[in-house]
Amino acid sequence: MEPRVKWGLITLAMVVLVLGLGGAAYAFHSGGVAECSGCHSMHSAAAAGSFLLIGSDQSSTCLTCHERDTDTGPSSYHVSTAPGSLGAGQSPLQRSPGGDFGWLKKTYNWTLRSTAYTEEGRSHGHNIVAVDKGYAADLVNTTAPGGTFPAAQLACNSCHDPHGKYRRLADGTVARTGAPIIGSGSYGTSTEPSAGYAVGVYRLLAGAGYTKGTVTFNGVPAAKVPSTYNRTEASTQTRVAYGKATSGGHQSWGDWCATCHSGMLTGKKHPVDQNLGSRVATNYNQYKKTGDMTGTDTTSFTSLAPFISNTSDYAALALLAKNDDSKLNGPASNDQVSCMTCHRAHASGWMYGLRFNMESDFMVYAGAYPGTDNSGANYARGRLAAETQTAYYDRPASVFSTYQRAFCNKCHAND
Ligand code: HEC
Ligand code: HEC
Ligand code: HEC
Ligand code: HEC
Ligand code: HEC
Ligand code: HEC
Repeated sequence: MEPRVKWGLITLAMVVLVLGLGGAAYAFHSGGVAECSGCHSMHSAAAAGSFLLIGSDQSSTCLTCHERDTDTGPSSYHVSTAPGSLGAGQSPLQRSPGGDFGWLKKTYNWTLRSTAYTEEGRSHGHNIVAVDKGYAADLVNTTAPGGTFPAAQLACNSCHDPHGKYRRLADGTVARTGAPIIGSGSYGTSTEPSAGYAVGVYRLLAGAGYTKGTVTFNGVPAAKVPSTYNRTEASTQTRVAYGKATSGGHQSWGDWCATCHSGMLTGKKHPVDQNLGSRVATNYNQYKKTGDMTGTDTTSFTSLAPFISNTSDYAALALLAKNDDSKLNGPASNDQVSCMTCHRAHASGWMYGLRFNMESDFMVYAGAYPGTDNSGANYARGRLAAETQTAYYDRPASVFSTYQRAFCNKCHAND
């Protein structure tokens, strides 16, 4: 009897292992370069763009898979919502950590005290150029603020290596070759590479020596995400564990973003890649909502203001990368604040791709999300209450105070 039971367990473990390498059913990149024909066509019939790409441009090529016309989302690896689902009153469908590019197509108009206002879709994040999918360059930010990268050249492959060459070797260093990639390295469930093998770097991001136009990246940032990451946060949160690796082909998150935004690190700017210190860490742990400082450090994490964990150990990050609220531990004083604390990488429902609304006094008013359809209309910026809720990844207004002020207070407790 005994041995048979054991074999059963081993077989099950192997199935789990294989699925852990990036989701067998949907695998395409598998942490590295995918089948060439997914993006290129060798014979002109299907090749629409340069480099024999199947889309008219680089980003359109990516979006042939990463956007779907008949999407009911949020669904797995989709990061964009097709125009047919973006009518008045409708919000983009995806709820991934990077965010749905569809927010760039949502312009809001409203009138306050007889003055007409507009919040342009383009202000919601990174305007990638994807002509087949209706995305055009930002005409206001013609270059990256704080840098020189031209908006007209911004594409998925400005930030992601389409060939996924960057890999994390068994010794923890990142290189472009040196061992074969066995699968994605992004997930809490991804298998760590053993000697002679490698996994893809977090999200196939661009690493040291990757050059686009006038910029060259100096390393990849570290993180782990739960394998189911594009999901509603109505009842539990999706925790990306951002890390602080800086050696062996790695870079901090602030330095990575600063590849194109170097000016955001200098002068009078919010601290980035800086320790929280004990006062701010204590605020974070105690702050539950406006007027309520009864929180504790085992339950204080929020994906609306994630911090950078003071570790370069991917196994430690994997333990935090959960979507079932089993790891909501808050920061210690040597954990850090960085760009990802406040911004989403792609786009969000708020200006500047921010994780929360910075433009109104109240995030929640009279116990409800502000909407043009309720008493919080003055704080709604042209949205229905239900639309406001989607920009917070569907979490109910009741997780906040009945009169919730800006979420900067999670760290600063000035409310
Ligand atoms: C996920 C999409 C994707 C896959 C899969 C892919 N490519 Fe590419 N490839 C691109 C994009 C996007 C560019 C344009 C890069 C740029 O704009 O500089 C490109 C450019 C190229 C180029 C010219 C410039 C360069 O970077 O060398 C070659 C050659 C190439 N790919 C070969 C391949 C081969 C061979 C495979 C399969 C092993 C492959 N590609 C798989 C997206 C892809
Ligand atoms: C043929 C369909 C297809 C195309 C084209 C495609 N992808 Fe993907 N992509 C997928 C699938 C399926 C997944 C999830 C499974 C996986 O990672 O292999 C995915 C996952 C990803 C991930 C997460 C991978 C990880 O390991 O964390 C990134 C980042 C990504 N794609 C970027 C791109 C970019 C950038 C392009 C264009 C250069 C592109 N994709 C083109 C199908 C595609
Ligand atoms: C400005 C840089 C940048 C651009 C441009 C960009 N990405 Fe990303 N992307 C990132 C980063 C950083 C992450 C990791 C986000 C996180 O975990 O918080 C990411 C995450 C992802 C993921 C995982 C799901 C998610 O949203 O977290 C996919 C898939 C992906 N990107 C595909 C794309 C595609 C397709 C495009 C173009 C249409 C694109 N990206 C353009 C930086 C970028
Ligand atoms: C490859 C270059 C590149 C990288 C890397 C990059 N950005 Fe950008 N970013 C741009 C460009 C170009 C613009 C201007 C075009 C636009 O606003 O759509 C921009 C605009 C922005 C904006 C203003 C958006 C708005 O709507 O006003 C924010 C915020 C931002 N980036 C944050 C980040 C963060 C955070 C990171 C790291 C996760 C990052 N960027 C990485 C090129 C980059
Ligand atoms: C504490 C939160 C916070 C952090 C950390 C943060 N930002 Fe911002 N960022 C904001 C807010 C809020 C705005 C809106 C405009 C303002 O208040 O300056 C903004 C605006 C921007 C803009 C648009 C500026 C413009 O002129 O249009 C860019 C680009 C940007 N941030 C990039 C970054 C990058 C890159 C990092 C990391 C190096 C970063 N931010 C770190 C909160 C933050
Ligand atoms: C994850 C925690 C965190 C969040 C969220 C956060 N901050 Fe900070 N902030 C810090 C830390 C850490 C410092 C530096 C230590 C200090 O001043 O207490 C700081 C400093 C500041 C300072 C003083 C800067 C100086 O040069 O003296 C201002 C102003 C500030 N933050 C505003 C904001 C605003 C506005 C927001 C919301 C957009 C915000 N912060 C969100 C952590 C955070």
